[in-house]
Amino acid sequence: MFLVGSSSHTLHRLRILPLLLLLQTLERGLGRASPAGAPLEDVVIERYHIPRACPREVQMGDFVRYHYNGTFEDGKKFDSSYDRSTLVAIVVGVGRLITGMDRGLMGMCVNERRRLIVPPHLGYGSIGVAGLIPPDATLYFDVVLLDVWNKADTVQSTILLRPPYCPRMVQNSDFVRYHYNGTLLDGTAFDNSYSRNHTYNTYVGQGYIIPGMDQGLQGACIGERRRITVPPHLAYGENGTGDKIPGSAVLIFDVHVIDFHNPSDPVEIKTLSRPPENCNETSKIGDFIRYHYNCSLLDGTRLFSSHDYEAPQEITLGANKVIEGLDRGLQGMCVGERRQLIVPPHLAHGENGARGVPGSAVLLFEVELVSREDGLPTGYLFVWYQDPSTSLFEDMDLNKDGEVPPEEFSSFIKAQVNEGKGRLMPGQDPDKTISDMFQNQDRNQDGKITAEELKLKSDEDQERVHEEL
Ligand SMILES: *[C@@H]1O[C@H](CO)[C@@H](O)[C@H](O)[C@H]1NC(C)=O
Ligand SMILES: *[C@@H]1O[C@H](CO)[C@@H](O)[C@H](O)[C@H]1NC(C)=O
Ligand SMILES: *[C@@H]1O[C@H](CO)[C@@H](O)[C@H](O)[C@H]1NC(C)=O
Ligand SMILES: *[C@@H]1O[C@H](CO)[C@@H](O)[C@H](O)[C@H]1NC(C)=O
Ligand SMILES: *[C@@H]1O[C@H](CO)[C@@H](O)[C@H](O)[C@H]1NC(C)=O
Ligand SMILES: *[C@@H]1O[C@H](CO)[C@@H](O)[C@H](O)[C@H]1NC(C)=O
Repeated sequence: MFLVGSSSHTLHRLRILPLLLLLQTLERGLGRASPAGAPLEDVVIERYHIPRACPREVQMGDFVRYHYNGTFEDGKKFDSSYDRSTLVAIVVGVGRLITGMDRGLMGMCVNERRRLIVPPHLGYGSIGVAGLIPPDATLYFDVVLLDVWNKADTVQSTILLRPPYCPRMVQNSDFVRYHYNGTLLDGTAFDNSYSRNHTYNTYVGQGYIIPGMDQGLQGACIGERRRITVPPHLAYGENGTGDKIPGSAVLIFDVHVIDFHNPSDPVEIKTLSRPPENCNETSKIGDFIRYHYNCSLLDGTRLFSSHDYEAPQEITLGANKVIEGLDRGLQGMCVGERRQLIVPPHLAHGENGARGVPGSAVLLFEVELVSREDGLPTGYLFVWYQDPSTSLFEDMDLNKDGEVPPEEFSSFIKAQVNEGKGRLMPGQDPDKTISDMFQNQDRNQDGKITAEELKLKSDEDQERVHEEL
């Protein structure tokens, strides 16, 4: 590469200094050809491909990456960046290149192609480079610019699409899930999240990602698309990384934020509608409830719905039957109320996700409480509304043979329920509950209950308390 090194060149540079002033008066991009035959005074620049979009032109002190072919007037190649594994990555306009190149790159756009004709005094002078460039050689360079940045550059974030509803924006220590396409300035793709079928998931502002992304993701909304342009000193530096990101490369990330949350987030509850009549009893822990729900990801991907089944979902609140966030969000509801719940992953399926749920996903629920009834105290299968009959066993023993078989027991309990004297644990098949109750009472497991065996659970608990005392 054309670094300054030879003493001859240093001399030329000194001699050239006054010319710089002159150069600035010239129109950018136009070189000065001298009358035919006479040696060129200055580098001649032919801009034979100028890209339509040119957000930035090379200035003095910028760093650039470019490819070039160097030829002599007769077309013979003397050097090419393509023959080396790396292309040129260097600061421009400060004498680290031959003067012809320093000047010839000024004002250049990324993806622009130029031909530079460099007279000997702006190249290798009357000495040349032994074995490579003869004395007094005019050099022809075909250059394509791939990258331009400056040490003073900061991260640039451009919002491409911001959703109209943005209640909250990414800030430090949030955990963000996003898709991205990564390209270099010249359009070369180096990576994307889509090929892995997986969002990129990370904490922001904690040093888990390159500093440029830690900064560039700040202030993004859920659903937002933004372009984050990161100079190499905030990305992978002078050495790059892997085989796709060269040293000193500017990186462009087109990001689509799928969701984000903070590990301290609670369930966000929004009531969508409430029945007009006064609702004096709302759902609480221990209640048996029926509800409908639709569940999706924040980007609208539909996951689950109770409408896929014949009946509403049924649970006892607080019994650890559904994800914690849903359990919380279903408490304090009136029957007929509709709510929207936003459930962060630590109250949902966590960082590993679940079937159909990506890891660390924030879930959006729409729920409607269909019915609510008080549950039974823990451990109870049946409760009386009033004090039970004092002659319980006699009442049960319908044929008065001193034993209560399952059939008699079942008819008796069902009669109590039908007459409104007691109720069974909600949410389970009554026959199953009654069968469980029978098993509990049939202490010697001989298939029938005797007067000695029959005991109310409340009395049992009482006895146990006394025993403990
Ligand atoms: C250099 O030459 C190679 C081979 O001919 C060509 O593919 C490449 O586009 C040239 N580069 C420039 C900047 O003209
Ligand atoms: C991503 O999903 C597509 C379609 O479902 C599949 O063809 C592809 O192999 C998957 N890629 C990876 C890396 O899992
Ligand atoms: C880049 O690589 C060189 C050689 O391997 C090493 O000396 C230098 O420390 C590296 N620079 C950075 C910033 O890692
Ligand atoms: C990434 O590129 C693909 C294909 O061009 C496009 O469909 C997708 O929207 C892009 N994603 C982002 C975040 O720009
Ligand atoms: C709720 O309201 C109904 C009708 O107004 C009333 O009968 C019932 O006792 C109330 N329940 C509570 C817990 O206040
Ligand atoms: C779920 O979505 C369906 C239509 O897709 C809608 O009819 C239903 O009301 C929604 N249920 C809830 C609880 O929001």
